[in-house]
Amino acid sequence: MSDLPLRSTIIGAGHYVPTKVVTNDDLAKLMTTSDEWIQQRSGIKERRFIEHDDIGASDLALPAAKMAIEHAGLQAKDIDAIIFATLSPDYNFPGSGVLLGNLLGLNGVPALDVRNQCSGFLYSLSVADAWVRAGVYKNVLIAGAEVHSTGIELADRGRDVAVLFGDGAGCAIVSRATDPNQGIKALRLHADGVGARDLMVEYPRSRRIPRITKELLDEGVHYPKMVGKQVFRWAVEKMPEVAQQVMDEAKLSVDDLDLFVPHQANMRINQMVGMKLNIPQEKIVHNIEKYGNTTAATIPLGLSEAWREGRCKRGSNILMAAFGAGYTWGGAVITL
Ligand code: ACO
Repeated sequence: MSDLPLRSTIIGAGHYVPTKVVTNDDLAKLMTTSDEWIQQRSGIKERRFIEHDDIGASDLALPAAKMAIEHAGLQAKDIDAIIFATLSPDYNFPGSGVLLGNLLGLNGVPALDVRNQCSGFLYSLSVADAWVRAGVYKNVLIAGAEVHSTGIELADRGRDVAVLFGDGAGCAIVSRATDPNQGIKALRLHADGVGARDLMVEYPRSRRIPRITKELLDEGVHYPKMVGKQVFRWAVEKMPEVAQQVMDEAKLSVDDLDLFVPHQANMRINQMVGMKLNIPQEKIVHNIEKYGNTTAATIPLGLSEAWREGRCKRGSNILMAAFGAGYTWGGAVITL
Protein backbone atom coordinates (compact mmCIF):
# COMPACT_ATOMS: atom_id res chain seq x y z
CA MET A 1 0.00 0.00 0.00
CA SER A 2 2.84 2.39 0.84
CA ASP A 3 4.11 2.55 -2.78
CA LEU A 4 0.67 3.49 -4.20
CA PRO A 5 0.15 7.14 -5.09
CA LEU A 6 -1.63 8.44 -1.98
CA ARG A 7 -5.20 9.41 -2.73
CA SER A 8 -8.24 9.67 -0.49
CA THR A 9 -11.71 8.35 -1.21
CA ILE A 10 -15.14 8.05 0.39
CA ILE A 11 -15.36 4.61 2.01
CA GLY A 12 -18.83 4.93 3.52
CA ALA A 13 -21.87 7.19 3.70
CA GLY A 14 -24.94 7.56 5.90
CA HIS A 15 -27.99 9.78 6.26
CA TYR A 16 -30.84 10.65 8.57
CA VAL A 17 -33.98 12.77 8.23
CA PRO A 18 -36.53 13.55 10.95
CA THR A 19 -39.78 11.58 10.83
CA LYS A 20 -42.11 14.61 10.60
CA VAL A 21 -43.21 15.06 6.97
CA VAL A 22 -44.39 18.57 6.03
CA THR A 23 -46.19 18.73 2.69
CA ASN A 24 -46.70 21.77 0.51
CA ASP A 25 -50.36 21.70 1.53
CA ASP A 26 -49.28 21.86 5.19
CA LEU A 27 -47.29 25.02 4.41
CA ALA A 28 -50.28 26.49 2.55
CA LYS A 29 -52.10 26.50 5.91
CA LEU A 30 -49.42 28.82 7.33
CA MET A 31 -48.86 31.19 4.38
CA THR A 32 -50.28 32.20 1.00
CA THR A 33 -48.75 29.56 -1.23
CA SER A 34 -49.81 26.42 -3.10
CA ASP A 35 -48.57 22.95 -3.89
CA GLU A 36 -48.66 23.90 -7.57
CA TRP A 37 -46.48 27.04 -7.14
CA ILE A 38 -43.87 25.22 -5.03
CA GLN A 39 -43.66 22.14 -7.29
CA GLN A 40 -43.55 24.18 -10.49
CA ARG A 41 -40.77 26.54 -9.27
CA SER A 42 -38.63 24.09 -7.27
CA GLY A 43 -39.76 20.45 -7.70
CA ILE A 44 -40.32 20.13 -3.94
CA LYS A 45 -43.33 18.07 -2.78
CA GLU A 46 -42.51 17.71 0.90
CA ARG A 47 -39.71 18.19 3.40
CA ARG A 48 -38.86 16.96 6.91
CA PHE A 49 -38.96 19.13 10.06
CA ILE A 50 -37.66 18.19 13.53
CA GLU A 51 -40.43 16.60 15.59
CA HIS A 52 -40.09 18.81 18.66
CA ASP A 53 -38.12 21.49 20.44
CA ASP A 54 -34.44 21.01 21.36
CA ILE A 55 -33.19 18.89 18.44
CA GLY A 56 -30.04 20.35 16.89
CA ALA A 57 -27.92 19.73 13.80
CA SER A 58 -25.58 17.55 15.89
CA ASP A 59 -28.53 15.33 16.93
CA LEU A 60 -29.52 14.78 13.28
CA ALA A 61 -25.89 14.08 12.37
CA LEU A 62 -25.49 11.38 15.05
CA PRO A 63 -27.52 8.57 13.38
CA ALA A 64 -26.14 9.57 9.96
CA ALA A 65 -22.58 9.36 11.34
CA LYS A 66 -23.21 5.94 12.92
CA MET A 67 -24.64 4.67 9.62
CA ALA A 68 -21.62 6.00 7.67
CA ILE A 69 -19.13 4.51 10.15
CA GLU A 70 -20.83 1.10 9.91
CA HIS A 71 -21.03 1.34 6.12
CA ALA A 72 -17.28 2.00 6.04
CA GLY A 73 -16.67 -1.14 8.14
CA LEU A 74 -15.26 0.97 10.98
CA GLN A 75 -16.08 1.68 14.60
CA ALA A 76 -16.47 5.15 16.11
CA LYS A 77 -13.07 4.83 17.81
CA ASP A 78 -11.42 4.59 14.36
CA ILE A 79 -12.39 8.21 13.50
CA ASP A 80 -9.37 10.52 13.77
CA ALA A 81 -11.03 13.85 12.95
CA ILE A 82 -14.50 15.38 12.45
CA ILE A 83 -15.49 18.10 9.98
CA PHE A 84 -19.00 19.49 10.48
CA ALA A 85 -20.55 21.57 7.70
CA THR A 86 -23.67 23.54 8.59
CA LEU A 87 -25.26 26.99 8.34
CA SER A 88 -27.61 26.14 11.21
CA PRO A 89 -25.30 25.10 14.06
CA ASP A 90 -26.87 24.06 17.37
CA TYR A 91 -25.43 27.23 18.94
CA ASN A 92 -23.73 30.37 17.68
CA PHE A 93 -20.65 28.93 19.29
CA PRO A 94 -19.14 26.43 19.95
CA GLY A 95 -19.61 24.64 16.65
CA SER A 96 -21.64 21.47 16.14
CA GLY A 97 -18.51 19.38 15.47
CA VAL A 98 -17.56 19.22 19.15
CA LEU A 99 -21.15 18.31 20.06
CA LEU A 100 -21.18 15.45 17.56
CA GLY A 101 -17.78 14.26 18.79
CA ASN A 102 -19.11 14.17 22.36
CA LEU A 103 -22.25 12.26 21.27
CA LEU A 104 -20.06 9.70 19.49
CA GLY A 105 -17.76 9.35 22.50
CA LEU A 106 -14.87 10.82 20.50
CA ASN A 107 -13.61 13.06 23.29
CA GLY A 108 -10.19 14.45 22.41
CA VAL A 109 -10.66 13.93 18.65
CA PRO A 110 -10.29 17.23 16.71
CA ALA A 111 -13.47 18.81 15.34
CA LEU A 112 -13.66 21.57 12.71
CA ASP A 113 -16.80 23.46 11.72
CA VAL A 114 -17.17 24.64 8.12
CA ARG A 115 -19.50 27.56 7.35
CA ASN A 116 -19.86 27.31 3.60
CA GLN A 117 -23.59 26.76 3.26
CA CYS A 118 -24.59 24.71 0.20
CA SER A 119 -21.01 23.99 -0.82
CA GLY A 120 -20.00 23.11 2.76
CA PHE A 121 -19.71 19.42 1.98
CA LEU A 122 -17.32 19.97 -0.93
CA TYR A 123 -15.20 22.41 1.09
CA SER A 124 -15.08 19.79 3.88
CA LEU A 125 -14.16 17.07 1.38
CA SER A 126 -11.23 19.18 0.21
CA VAL A 127 -9.91 19.57 3.77
CA ALA A 128 -10.41 15.86 4.52
CA ASP A 129 -8.66 14.92 1.25
CA ALA A 130 -5.64 17.08 2.10
CA TRP A 131 -5.45 15.70 5.66
CA VAL A 132 -5.62 12.07 4.50
CA ARG A 133 -3.16 12.52 1.61
CA ALA A 134 -0.69 14.34 3.83
CA GLY A 135 -0.92 11.52 6.37
CA VAL A 136 -2.21 13.84 9.10
CA TYR A 137 -5.38 11.79 9.75
CA LYS A 138 -6.45 8.37 8.48
CA ASN A 139 -10.25 8.31 8.82
CA VAL A 140 -12.10 11.64 8.66
CA LEU A 141 -15.83 11.88 9.38
CA ILE A 142 -17.60 14.63 7.42
CA ALA A 143 -21.05 15.58 8.67
CA GLY A 144 -23.41 17.90 6.80
CA ALA A 145 -26.53 18.63 8.85
CA GLU A 146 -29.15 21.36 9.07
CA VAL A 147 -32.11 22.31 11.21
CA HIS A 148 -33.70 24.94 8.98
CA SER A 149 -37.25 24.67 10.29
CA THR A 150 -36.53 26.76 13.40
CA GLY A 151 -34.85 29.53 11.37
CA ILE A 152 -37.28 30.20 8.50
CA GLU A 153 -40.27 32.50 8.63
CA LEU A 154 -43.32 30.28 8.18
CA ALA A 155 -45.59 33.19 7.19
CA ASP A 156 -46.37 35.28 4.08
CA ARG A 157 -43.37 37.59 4.64
CA GLY A 158 -40.87 34.73 4.46
CA ARG A 159 -42.68 32.45 1.99
CA ASP A 160 -40.20 32.79 -0.89
CA VAL A 161 -37.45 31.20 1.24
CA ALA A 162 -39.47 29.16 3.75
CA VAL A 163 -40.95 26.75 1.20
CA LEU A 164 -37.51 25.71 -0.08
CA PHE A 165 -35.76 24.36 3.02
CA GLY A 166 -35.91 21.17 5.08
CA ASP A 167 -34.05 19.47 7.96
CA GLY A 168 -31.71 16.52 7.49
CA ALA A 169 -28.22 15.11 7.72
CA GLY A 170 -25.71 13.26 5.57
CA CYS A 171 -22.28 11.91 6.50
CA ALA A 172 -19.28 10.48 4.69
CA ILE A 173 -16.07 8.80 5.82
CA VAL A 174 -12.98 9.89 3.93
CA SER A 175 -10.02 7.55 4.13
CA ARG A 176 -6.94 6.44 2.22
CA ALA A 177 -7.67 4.83 -1.16
CA THR A 178 -6.47 1.22 -1.32
CA ASP A 179 -6.82 0.70 -5.08
CA PRO A 180 -4.73 2.78 -7.54
CA ASN A 181 -7.85 3.60 -9.59
CA GLN A 182 -9.83 4.77 -6.55
CA GLY A 183 -9.93 8.23 -5.11
CA ILE A 184 -10.72 11.90 -5.50
CA LYS A 185 -9.52 12.60 -9.05
CA ALA A 186 -10.29 16.33 -9.11
CA LEU A 187 -11.73 18.84 -6.67
CA ARG A 188 -12.16 22.59 -7.28
CA LEU A 189 -13.54 25.25 -4.97
CA HIS A 190 -14.58 28.83 -5.77
CA ALA A 191 -16.02 31.85 -3.98
CA ASP A 192 -17.14 35.35 -4.95
CA GLY A 193 -18.25 37.68 -2.18
CA VAL A 194 -19.90 39.99 -4.73
CA GLY A 195 -23.02 37.90 -4.08
CA ALA A 196 -22.74 37.84 -0.28
CA ARG A 197 -25.84 39.98 0.20
CA ASP A 198 -27.99 37.99 -2.25
CA LEU A 199 -28.56 35.23 0.29
CA MET A 200 -27.94 35.94 3.95
CA VAL A 201 -29.17 36.14 7.51
CA GLU A 202 -28.32 39.73 8.36
CA TYR A 203 -28.88 39.80 12.13
CA PRO A 204 -27.73 39.33 14.83
CA ARG A 205 -24.47 40.76 13.50
CA SER A 206 -21.31 41.42 15.49
CA ARG A 207 -20.60 44.59 13.49
CA ARG A 208 -23.59 46.37 15.08
CA ILE A 209 -24.06 47.63 18.66
CA PRO A 210 -26.26 46.09 19.88
CA ARG A 211 -26.21 43.03 17.67
CA ILE A 212 -30.03 42.91 17.54
CA THR A 213 -32.93 44.95 18.92
CA LYS A 214 -36.60 44.23 19.55
CA GLU A 215 -37.50 46.52 16.62
CA LEU A 216 -35.19 44.61 14.27
CA LEU A 217 -36.67 41.30 15.45
CA ASP A 218 -40.13 42.68 14.63
CA GLU A 219 -38.88 43.48 11.10
CA GLY A 220 -37.81 39.82 10.76
CA VAL A 221 -34.17 40.58 9.94
CA HIS A 222 -33.07 37.39 11.70
CA TYR A 223 -34.68 35.29 8.94
CA PRO A 224 -32.83 34.39 5.71
CA LYS A 225 -33.35 36.76 2.77
CA MET A 226 -32.68 35.75 -0.83
CA VAL A 227 -32.61 37.45 -4.21
CA GLY A 228 -33.83 34.20 -5.76
CA LYS A 229 -33.55 35.06 -9.45
CA GLN A 230 -29.97 36.34 -9.09
CA VAL A 231 -28.88 33.21 -7.17
CA PHE A 232 -30.60 31.06 -9.82
CA ARG A 233 -28.74 32.82 -12.66
CA TRP A 234 -25.35 32.31 -11.00
CA ALA A 235 -26.11 28.68 -10.09
CA VAL A 236 -27.00 27.63 -13.65
CA GLU A 237 -23.79 29.24 -14.94
CA LYS A 238 -21.28 28.23 -12.25
CA MET A 239 -22.38 24.64 -11.53
CA PRO A 240 -21.89 23.38 -15.11
CA GLU A 241 -18.65 25.39 -15.39
CA VAL A 242 -17.05 23.81 -12.31
CA ALA A 243 -18.46 20.36 -13.18
CA GLN A 244 -16.80 20.55 -16.61
CA GLN A 245 -13.58 21.82 -15.00
CA VAL A 246 -13.30 18.78 -12.69
CA MET A 247 -14.31 16.29 -15.41
CA ASP A 248 -11.57 17.73 -17.66
CA GLU A 249 -9.01 17.53 -14.86
CA ALA A 250 -10.04 13.95 -14.07
CA LYS A 251 -9.93 13.16 -17.81
CA LEU A 252 -13.44 11.69 -17.64
CA SER A 253 -16.26 12.19 -20.13
CA VAL A 254 -19.98 12.13 -19.39
CA ASP A 255 -20.05 8.54 -20.70
CA ASP A 256 -17.53 7.54 -18.01
CA LEU A 257 -19.75 8.91 -15.25
CA ASP A 258 -21.94 6.53 -13.26
CA LEU A 259 -23.68 9.17 -11.20
CA PHE A 260 -24.01 12.94 -10.80
CA VAL A 261 -24.83 14.00 -7.22
CA PRO A 262 -25.62 17.71 -7.38
CA HIS A 263 -26.60 19.99 -4.51
CA GLN A 264 -30.40 20.12 -4.21
CA ALA A 265 -31.49 23.78 -4.25
CA ASN A 266 -34.00 23.57 -7.05
CA MET A 267 -34.97 20.73 -9.41
CA ARG A 268 -34.97 23.21 -12.33
CA ILE A 269 -31.35 24.20 -11.60
CA ASN A 270 -30.23 20.54 -11.66
CA GLN A 271 -32.18 19.75 -14.82
CA MET A 272 -30.57 22.76 -16.55
CA VAL A 273 -27.09 21.74 -15.34
CA GLY A 274 -27.72 18.18 -16.60
CA MET A 275 -28.86 19.50 -19.99
CA LYS A 276 -25.85 21.83 -20.36
CA LEU A 277 -23.46 18.93 -19.67
CA ASN A 278 -25.49 16.32 -21.61
CA ILE A 279 -25.81 14.12 -18.54
CA PRO A 280 -28.79 11.77 -18.95
CA GLN A 281 -31.48 12.36 -16.31
CA GLU A 282 -31.24 8.76 -15.03
CA LYS A 283 -27.64 9.41 -13.94
CA ILE A 284 -28.66 12.44 -11.85
CA VAL A 285 -29.58 12.09 -8.19
CA HIS A 286 -32.74 14.06 -7.30
CA ASN A 287 -34.23 13.94 -3.83
CA ILE A 288 -35.37 17.54 -3.48
CA GLU A 289 -38.98 16.41 -3.99
CA LYS A 290 -38.78 14.49 -0.66
CA TYR A 291 -36.49 16.67 1.44
CA GLY A 292 -36.32 20.20 0.01
CA ASN A 293 -32.97 21.96 0.32
CA THR A 294 -31.03 20.47 3.24
CA THR A 295 -28.01 22.66 2.34
CA ALA A 296 -24.75 21.11 3.64
CA ALA A 297 -26.49 17.71 3.90
CA THR A 298 -27.74 17.40 0.31
CA ILE A 299 -24.70 15.75 -1.32
CA PRO A 300 -23.82 13.15 1.38
CA LEU A 301 -27.56 12.44 1.83
CA GLY A 302 -28.00 11.91 -1.92
CA LEU A 303 -24.84 9.78 -2.14
CA SER A 304 -25.86 7.62 0.82
CA GLU A 305 -29.33 6.95 -0.61
CA ALA A 306 -27.97 6.24 -4.10
CA TRP A 307 -25.34 3.84 -2.69
CA ARG A 308 -28.02 1.88 -0.80
CA GLU A 309 -30.29 1.82 -3.85
CA GLY A 310 -27.45 0.22 -5.84
CA ARG A 311 -27.05 3.25 -8.14
CA CYS A 312 -23.32 3.32 -7.31
CA LYS A 313 -20.76 0.93 -5.85
CA ARG A 314 -16.98 0.60 -5.34
CA GLY A 315 -15.31 1.69 -8.58
CA SER A 316 -18.17 3.99 -9.65
CA ASN A 317 -17.24 7.40 -11.05
CA ILE A 318 -19.18 10.10 -9.24
CA LEU A 319 -19.48 13.78 -10.15
CA MET A 320 -20.53 16.26 -7.46
CA ALA A 321 -21.26 19.97 -7.77
CA ALA A 322 -22.76 22.65 -5.56
CA PHE A 323 -23.52 26.37 -5.59
CA GLY A 324 -24.85 28.49 -2.77
CA ALA A 325 -24.69 31.44 -0.41
CA GLY A 326 -21.48 33.41 -0.31
CA TYR A 327 -21.38 32.92 -3.21
CA THR A 328 -19.41 29.71 -2.84
CA TRP A 329 -19.33 26.79 -5.23
CA GLY A 330 -17.32 23.72 -6.13
CA GLY A 331 -17.12 20.39 -7.92
CA ALA A 332 -15.46 17.02 -7.47
CA VAL A 333 -14.91 13.81 -9.40
CA ILE A 334 -14.34 10.74 -7.28
CA THR A 335 -13.97 7.02 -7.99
CA LEU A 336 -15.46 5.20 -5.01
N1 ACO B 1 -45.81 30.87 -2.97
C1 ACO B 1 -46.48 31.59 -3.88
N2 ACO B 1 -45.95 32.70 -4.45
C2 ACO B 1 -44.71 33.06 -4.06
C3 ACO B 1 -43.98 32.35 -3.10
C4 ACO B 1 -44.58 31.22 -2.54
N3 ACO B 1 -43.97 30.46 -1.62
N4 ACO B 1 -42.79 32.95 -2.92
C5 ACO B 1 -42.76 34.01 -3.75
N5 ACO B 1 -43.93 34.09 -4.42
C6 ACO B 1 -44.31 35.07 -5.42
C7 ACO B 1 -43.48 36.32 -5.31
O1 ACO B 1 -44.08 37.23 -4.42
C8 ACO B 1 -43.50 36.86 -6.73
O2 ACO B 1 -44.73 37.48 -6.96
P1 ACO B 1 -44.82 38.80 -7.90
O3 ACO B 1 -44.36 38.33 -9.26
O4 ACO B 1 -46.27 39.14 -7.84
O5 ACO B 1 -43.91 39.78 -7.28
C9 ACO B 1 -43.48 35.60 -7.54
O6 ACO B 1 -44.01 34.55 -6.70
C10 ACO B 1 -42.05 35.19 -7.96
O7 ACO B 1 -42.21 34.13 -8.82
P2 ACO B 1 -41.11 33.75 -9.86
O8 ACO B 1 -40.51 35.00 -10.43
O9 ACO B 1 -41.66 32.79 -10.81
O10 ACO B 1 -40.04 33.04 -8.94
P3 ACO B 1 -38.77 32.32 -9.47
O11 ACO B 1 -39.02 31.64 -10.75
O12 ACO B 1 -37.61 33.24 -9.37
O13 ACO B 1 -38.55 31.14 -8.41
C11 ACO B 1 -37.09 30.50 -6.63
C12 ACO B 1 -38.22 31.45 -7.11
C13 ACO B 1 -37.67 29.09 -6.59
C14 ACO B 1 -36.71 30.92 -5.22
C15 ACO B 1 -35.89 30.58 -7.56
O14 ACO B 1 -35.53 31.91 -7.76
C16 ACO B 1 -34.68 29.81 -7.08
O15 ACO B 1 -34.67 28.60 -7.00
N6 ACO B 1 -33.55 30.50 -6.81
C17 ACO B 1 -32.29 29.87 -6.45
C18 ACO B 1 -32.31 29.28 -5.09
C19 ACO B 1 -30.93 28.80 -4.75
O16 ACO B 1 -30.23 28.17 -5.52
N7 ACO B 1 -30.46 29.09 -3.57
C20 ACO B 1 -29.11 28.77 -3.24
C21 ACO B 1 -28.99 27.64 -2.38
S1 ACO B 1 -29.49 27.97 -0.78
C22 ACO B 1 -28.07 28.24 0.19
O17 ACO B 1 -26.98 28.36 -0.26
C23 ACO B 1 -28.36 28.40 1.61
